[in-house]
Amino acid sequence: MVRAHGARPRTPRRHTVRGPLPEGLTVDGPVALWRDGDTVTAVSRRCPHLGCTVRPAADETLACPCHGSRFDPRGRLKRGPAGTDLAPLRVSRDSDGNGLVIDLPS
Ligand code: FES
Repeated sequence: MVRAHGARPRTPRRHTVRGPLPEGLTVDGPVALWRDGDTVTAVSRRCPHLGCTVRPAADETLACPCHGSRFDPRGRLKRGPAGTDLAPLRVSRDSDGNGLVIDLPS
């Protein structure tokens, strides 16, 4: 393996969510999760405009407090100034099957 001087190998960052996830929208640390039955999707809460953290709004959307972008609960862009959806994240079950492991961007 060839590495640039001082570069470290990237280790995947992960976020674990414990316990049963309620139906609908949940935010947990850097992640927004949407559960619909057995299906769970996760997106980053980092706004693609300038990086603020989106928050759940009363209408089950995700709202950016900085410049007003809005996303549906699955992270799809509804209103800018952001130009793209929230970043989708890979979700898997943890080893004991009771929690979820979400891979975060490095
Ligand atoms: S940082 Fe989110 S809209 Fe600007």
